[in-house]
Formats: sequence, structure tokens, C-alpha cells
Amino acid sequence: MKIEMKGIYKSFGANDVLKDVGFSLEGGEICALLGENGAGKSTLMNILGGVLQADKGEIFIDGERAEFSEPVNSLESGIAFIHQELNLINDLPVYENMFIGREPRKRFGILDKAYMKKETERIFELMNMSLDSSVMVRGLDASYKQIVEIARAIMMNASVIIMDEPTSSLTELEIERVFSMIKSLAARGVGIVFISHKLREVMRLCTRYTVLRDGNMVARGAVADVTTDDLARFMVGHDVRTESLQRNKGVSHSVLRLENISDSRNFFGVSLDVRSGEVLGVTGLLGDGRSELFLSIFGAGGDYSGQAYIEGKPVKLKSSTQALEYGLAYLPRNRKENGILKDMNILENGCIAVWPRISKFGFIIRATQKKMFDSQAQDLRIKMGGETDPITSLSGGNQQKVILSRWMMSDPKILILDNPTQGVDVGAKEEIYDIILRLADDGVGVVVLSSEAQEIVRVCDRAVVMYHGRVAGSVEGLMMNEHDIMRLATGAAQ
Ligand SMILES: Nc1ncnc2c1ncn2[C@@H]1O[C@H](COP(=O)(O)OP(=O)(O)OP(=O)(O)O)[C@@H](O)[C@H]1O
Ligand SMILES: [Mg+2]
Repeated sequence: MKIEMKGIYKSFGANDVLKDVGFSLEGGEICALLGENGAGKSTLMNILGGVLQADKGEIFIDGERAEFSEPVNSLESGIAFIHQELNLINDLPVYENMFIGREPRKRFGILDKAYMKKETERIFELMNMSLDSSVMVRGLDASYKQIVEIARAIMMNASVIIMDEPTSSLTELEIERVFSMIKSLAARGVGIVFISHKLREVMRLCTRYTVLRDGNMVARGAVADVTTDDLARFMVGHDVRTESLQRNKGVSHSVLRLENISDSRNFFGVSLDVRSGEVLGVTGLLGDGRSELFLSIFGAGGDYSGQAYIEGKPVKLKSSTQALEYGLAYLPRNRKENGILKDMNILENGCIAVWPRISKFGFIIRATQKKMFDSQAQDLRIKMGGETDPITSLSGGNQQKVILSRWMMSDPKILILDNPTQGVDVGAKEEIYDIILRLADDGVGVVVLSSEAQEIVRVCDRAVVMYHGRVAGSVEGLMMNEHDIMRLATGAAQ
């Protein structure tokens, strides 16, 4: 199947998001769609998926003009769409989620659950995945939810699959699994659109690329002819820095110390020390327990044994409010589920953590709030219409920046960032790294949780590597390289 989009225009109010954009894809190609946060990638694919209507422009399928006024039209033409924001129903089991909107029925309209289960299991087997198809989606880790979405697209037998950042919350091992799946689909003639900010993944997986900048198509071609630096330059319009950011720092005092922390389920006997002014990385593969560990310490996860100390004082935090009183801030891993408050606007989403500090007689001092947020929005270069627009009007990466600004404004002594650059473009990633280092220079102890060894090497002074809930080792100096980190993370060093 061949898809062509020609002369596509789309505006939201005064914001001209797509300006005369063209896009094409043939069966068997894996085409990367690249661009900075807010460049218009999701919007363009939403038009192809029938979610949005173009103001002007045409779509051709195998040379025939197509009209997609609803998602179902696009689906019926063989185009499956895995959205950036996940689309599963928490209170249904996995196998029912696989069939949303197309549930097979027996006589009298009764759902054919046995069939749905069997089909789901067949696809999982094809994907080489061991996941119980009857568990509720609510109980799944974010990465498994993403895998269920991918499985659903595969099951639909689509000729074209659009994947909007499918790997942003997957760890290396699952990414491998998904990649080999994508490659075998392409080998069978399926066309894939792959949106990602991880340029190294693009180099490994994709055959072609198309780059959008500010709503214009600025470059396209074969991936074999370019480097990641070229792609980054196309995206931002100038060279992007890539040297390491490690700094020289003096000795300082401990701001957070963990001694023998266990929950007997996700993490076991973890001891570590975070010092004022340093950036400590904590990394590992899926199931390493790092997120659960810090969530518990923050008072928002399960109970644990062992002792935590903040600036030498033994503490056991019971709630996030109490954590903030101690100067501990925490950016949770999954923006889509734990970060954004959908009913609030951009400004409120950014400022909610500082409300207790900027209120008088129970009222928020609006002017102070605006001033604080404005300076953050400028630092992080948040691309938005107005501050009182709904948070959902922002592109994925810009939503992430708003959540990040929330915790930076809380003026913490200890800042824990779980997967802070999820869905963020190359340029903005560098801005976030700069801000992390600036905070550390100001004496904040920063903990970066990340499964990307490259990111750990790039921004951390030192890193602790976890394996199945235990500390497998730590790296710094010359040992801070991707190879040594992976060796510890896969348990190969044990
Ligand atoms: N429903 C909407 N209402 C108003 N503005 C919108 C809406 N959807 C998108 N926009 C705006 O359109 C622009 C492009 O957004 P889009 O989501 O396509 O970006 P993107 O390239 O996918 O970015 P990211 O990498 O951050 O996901 C942004 O400025 C965004 O704020
Ligand atoms: Mg997007």
C-alpha cells in the first residue's frame, strides 16, 4: 500500500501548525517522522488517522483520493494508529482491550470472550511475549500497556501502522523485542511510521526519514545517508552539542541517605548516599525496582524496612506533602498517568506544588504565580498558546516540560527525576540537562532515574546500577560508560 499526503495545512486558532506539508510512505518502509516538540508530528499523523481534519490538502491511498472524516475510516483503509497518549481502558482485562470497538459477539450479542482470549494469546505468542491476557490493564506497568497497544495494531492486520513514540516508556530489553517485531512486519510489506526523539533508535530501525520544523517539511531521505548529528541539525536548524557534561565538584554533605532499604518484593537491602551538589544516576533494566524504591521513600509507594535519612535526620515520609516539607521533590515516571492534571490549565499544572507557599488566607497570589511560571516557561522554552489554555492542548514533550517546571519551582533540596526527558526533543533534552546541572551547582542533590545508559553517562556525576531490586554496583569516572553500565544492569558482572 502506498500513502501520499499532499499540501497539508492545519491551524489551531492563530497557531499555524502545518504549512503545506507533504508525506509519503510505501509498504515495507519504516519511515521516521522527526521534529522538535510541537513541530506538528502528532498533528500530521492525526490527520492521516482521521482524528483531525486538515484545513487544506489531500490524502491518496494507492493513487486514489481518500477522505478520512473519522478514525474508523482510516482504520478500514488498513491504517492502525498507536497514539502518543495511551488508549486503553484500565478496568477491562487485556484481551478485551485488544478488541475495543470491534468486539466479536456470539448469539444474542454476548461477547465471545473465549475467542478474544485465544486470539490475544496467539498474538502474544507471535510476539514472543509472556503476558497473562486476563489481567486488568490497571495493574500493568506502563511499558506493558504500550506493548498491548502494539499487539493490538498487529492483530488488526493493518497495512500501515503509525507509532507515535512507542518506546518512550520501554526499557532496552522490551525495545529489542518491539524492534524485531517491527522489522518482521516491514519484511512482510507493512509500512511503518515511527515517531521518536531517540535518534539512535531511528538509525537502527528506520529506512527513511522525514523532518518537520515549525510545521514545514524541511528534509527527507534515506537513513543510510545521514548521521544522528545530521538529523538533530535538521530538527533544530543548528548544531547540537554532544560532549559530556561531567563537572568537577568539591566534597559535600549527604542530603539523602538510604540504609538497607527493602520492601521484600521490588527492592532489597538498598543502601546509597546522595550528596548536596551532585547528580546521582540510578539505572537498570525493567524490574530493577528503582522507581518503586524512590516512590516508597517519597511516601507515595509501599511500606519498607530499613532507614532513610534527610540531612542526617532519620525520616519515614508518609505523604508527598510531608516530603515537600522536608525539601524532597519527585517527578514521577509516567507523565500520562501520574503527572498531568487533565482538568487544569497549563499554569495550574505548573504551579500546583508551590500553592502552599504562594497562598495568603487560602488564596493564591496570582501575580506571584504568574511571575514564577513565566520564568520557568522561558528557561524551558515551553511552546504554548496561552498559559490558561488546557494542558492537553500542548504537544507531548511540552507537557513533560510543564510537569518538570512544577518540581523545579518547589525549590527542593533533593530532586528525584524519574525518566525526566521522556518524549522530549534533542534540543530540549540539552536544556533540561543544563537545568539539572545548574540546580546541582546551586547545591541541590539531584537523582536521575533512567534506563538510558547514554543519558546517565551524559548528565550524572556518578551512578548506581540496579539488578532485580539490588544494587549491582556503582560507576564513576572512567567507568561511567555505556558498556560498564550495561554489564552491571544485565547481571553479567555477578
Ligand atoms: N487540540 C489542540 N488544540 C490546540 N493546539 C493544539 C492541539 N493539538 C496540537 N496543538 C498545537 O499544535 C502544535 C503541534 O503539536 P503536535 O502535538 O503535533 O507536536 P509534536 O511534533 O507531536 O510534538 P511532541 O514531540 O512534543 O509530541 C503545538 O504547538 C500544539 O500546542
Ligand atoms: Mg507528538
